[in-house]
Amino acid sequence: QKGAYPYYMLKEIDEQPGVMRTLVQEYFNEDGSIKIDADLLNALSQADRLYVVAAGTSYHAGLVGKELFEKLAKIPTEVHVASEFAYNPPLLSEKPFFIFLTQSGETADSRQVLTQVNAQGYPSLTITNVKASTLDREATYTLLLHAGPEIAVASTKAYTAQIAVLAILVKAYGEAKGLQAVKEFDLAAELTKVANGMQELVDEKGTVEKVAKEMLETTRNAFYLGRGIDYAVAQEAALKLKEVSYIQTEGFASGELKHGTIALIEEGTPVIAVITNPKTATHTRSNTQEVLARGANVMIISSRGVAQEGDQVVLPDVNPLLSPLLSIVPTQLLAYYASLQRGYDVDKPRNLAKSVTVE
Ligand code: M6R
Repeated sequence: QKGAYPYYMLKEIDEQPGVMRTLVQEYFNEDGSIKIDADLLNALSQADRLYVVAAGTSYHAGLVGKELFEKLAKIPTEVHVASEFAYNPPLLSEKPFFIFLTQSGETADSRQVLTQVNAQGYPSLTITNVKASTLDREATYTLLLHAGPEIAVASTKAYTAQIAVLAILVKAYGEAKGLQAVKEFDLAAELTKVANGMQELVDEKGTVEKVAKEMLETTRNAFYLGRGIDYAVAQEAALKLKEVSYIQTEGFASGELKHGTIALIEEGTPVIAVITNPKTATHTRSNTQEVLARGANVMIISSRGVAQEGDQVVLPDVNPLLSPLLSIVPTQLLAYYASLQRGYDVDKPRNLAKSVTVE
């Protein structure tokens, strides 16, 4: 039920702080230990490489998951679009472990890969929001997202829940491997900080609504840019905006701007930069200067440590590896308001289905 909300998408954006808190309750014991099946951790620890397979928004959550697995737990991780993997699989390592990310648990492209993986006898984990869904039943292990039903076609809370569950899995795996840095990473406390930060962001909707009105109401196209983990967020932000507002949107690595995309920047083109990493903040800022000089309308979403005066959204502080959980929120709201301002049914974008059960 959407209750007092005009649309499910807004309700689901607003539910994200609560989902983070639920995940802390579901996955952490009082003493801080994690409730994940020892068999799953054992199977994971035998792997020499992880293969994350997903589609759409879930694929974008996988891109963030790769950062978490590689940076925190030091295990090589590849992320693949399911429909590509199915017909053009990569060369596999000796001991692969597969992780399927799927909100619905019914995506045909992902299922097709799981069927192939099962036929080859490799272990797999499905991370899904829907218990007893096809990919839950067919994978070796399952972790649930506990996000509550997601009704709007545009996925929001499942994306952040996927990233949080991946972070919990990385923590459990890293601890089992005896990694000191992972042991010291107080993830339950960080996720609580994330929940509070998300709450601050969803309470400040007015700012984003105004930017949407100024930048997106009549535009034909828009660009998101970022580097590293912010690039992963830029790709998801672009998908969100295009699917509900029909604005042609691209999310790209900001260093790539000068290699082609800058040709598309003209007077009034909206460019939204996500800047959270101190190491690359100066570079991305200079990219925004390049587009400003060509007349672009620039919006900057930055984390507190690298914020500058004039940035439209400054994110509350969290561990940098969890920054996507916050930086995505204003972009979800931008998509929502852009769709409404253009007069569309934001919950049911044209040509799209909530779960894509055909290849
Ligand atoms: O249920 P799944 O997570 O497997 O769905 C994957 C995609 O179809 C889905 O994320 C799609 O891209 C959404 N419309 C994104 O908002």
